[in-house]
Amino acid sequence: MERIGILGAGAMGRGIAQIAAAAGYPVIIADANPKAAEDALGFISDLLKRAADKGRMTAEAADAAIKNITVAQGVAAFKDCTLVVEAIIERLDIKRQVFAELEGIVSADCILASNTSSLSVTSIAAGAKLPGRIAGYHFFNPVPLMKVVEVVKATLTEDWVVDRLVTLSKAVGHKPVVTADTPGFIVNHAGRAFGTEGLRILGEGIAATHDIDDVMREGAGFRMGPFELMDLTGLDVSQTVMESVYRQFYDDPKYRPSALAANQMAAGLYGRKTKRGFYVYENGEQQRPAPRPVPTELPKTVWAEGADEKFRVLLGELAAKAGVTVESGAKPSATAIAFVTPVGQDATTSAAELGLDATRVVAVDALFGLATRRTLMTTPVTDPALRDQAHALLASDGVAVTVIHDSPGFIAQRIVAMIVNIASDIAQQRIATPADIETAVKLGLGYPKGPLEFGDHLGAATVQRILDAMFAFYGDPRYRSSPWLKRRAMLGVSLMTAEG
Ligand SMILES: NC(=O)c1ccc[n+]([C@@H]2O[C@H](COP(=O)([O-])OP(=O)(O)OC[C@H]3O[C@@H](n4cnc5c(N)ncnc54)[C@H](O)[C@@H]3O)[C@@H](O)[C@H]2O)c1
Repeated sequence: MERIGILGAGAMGRGIAQIAAAAGYPVIIADANPKAAEDALGFISDLLKRAADKGRMTAEAADAAIKNITVAQGVAAFKDCTLVVEAIIERLDIKRQVFAELEGIVSADCILASNTSSLSVTSIAAGAKLPGRIAGYHFFNPVPLMKVVEVVKATLTEDWVVDRLVTLSKAVGHKPVVTADTPGFIVNHAGRAFGTEGLRILGEGIAATHDIDDVMREGAGFRMGPFELMDLTGLDVSQTVMESVYRQFYDDPKYRPSALAANQMAAGLYGRKTKRGFYVYENGEQQRPAPRPVPTELPKTVWAEGADEKFRVLLGELAAKAGVTVESGAKPSATAIAFVTPVGQDATTSAAELGLDATRVVAVDALFGLATRRTLMTTPVTDPALRDQAHALLASDGVAVTVIHDSPGFIAQRIVAMIVNIASDIAQQRIATPADIETAVKLGLGYPKGPLEFGDHLGAATVQRILDAMFAFYGDPRYRSSPWLKRRAMLGVSLMTAEG
């Protein structure tokens, strides 16, 4: 049985100590600040006792878990440990110093693991006498609830170390995912697209924060929109991760963060914790602008030849109920509103390619939210009166409509395509297996589907089409698609397909 030392009794150290002790492992906690270690024991005891009071564990089990924890003054107490998990301040110089000190105390087969979220584990291990026994062991906050842990195999980490950490993770009730030592590992790497692409949409004036959040929640099925999430996490944390992952990948444009968020961080608008971030919070309540009134004037005639089939059926039903004529000619008449449903393209490009009068064109995202929240997009010259009539018709069955300015890929298409693309690159770079990528993202980020499954659900070829259209429009290598995605789209196979 592992005997576990935990250095650093802050938010993470406490959580790791709690789950290990509850699983029956002897745990020693130490901290540079002795009061922090004492407080941690008090904190864990209270939590476990409360869990027992609520019937989530027996009083005996809570008692036994508390007895498994010892508080020590200094790292000398880790002498007989088989594993030491470091969860101290996120500074490379200090972590390296601490690992050097630990090496002088523990035996040669004791694993030294770091809970770092942003530093290179290989750099932490550099200079160690036995770098092969050093690995990353990255838990998420709050540890007892976030049931996934990244086992980080640094350049010199030996297999036995990974194996033992994988076994321990399962024994404490967490899902281990094994990752190569690359910036952001799996979860913080895979999570980049959500916020950065949301910010890109905001920064381009396509839609407001609450509109982007509504579409991602109700249209695409995420628990929270990107701005709600950044406000919850705190921009001081999110922006730091966005910058760090971007810089560590040598300014790969896929991860390019936003100057808008950098300014907001400089202004101290972190989110809920500062009562103002992307939203203002009053008594903990997110403040939103009054909803845009739903227009009531319906169009006389609409046209949607060549649009997505599901959308055409929906439009037909809405039009029939509302007494609106649906034209079926190859081209719309001069008085009809022309509906298009582009995949990846913006409304302007679609209008131009189809030879339509852009003042009468509105675009609808047929891939996301047709039944839950519809996205309606205009060209820069779409007649506002026609836009409102289209809105009235799309909202006539009570489904909410978000109106946005022109954008390749609307909101959900572009954010989801980037999520799939980045996950595909994680697979392509052999950072983790497709199965571990899915587990890590579902448990670590709480996405409704794993990113590769999301891609399969839309179809790899569709995701590829969205990215290609965005790449063509912006000429920005940010939107180049991963070789993993490209090949599987071409072959028509699942994005979970690994090479044999
Ligand atoms: N908070 C998170 O969401 C989160 C998630 C995953 C990983 N991490 C990583 O876990 C580590 C700890 O983060 P945290 O949020 O628990 O921090 P924290 O500030 O809550 O706790 C850090 C603790 O380490 C102690 N400490 C600092 N320097 C020390 C030293 N030289 N020796 C011994 N103790 C020392 C401090 O006194 C403090 O009690 C960091 O590497 C962080 O990047 C944090």
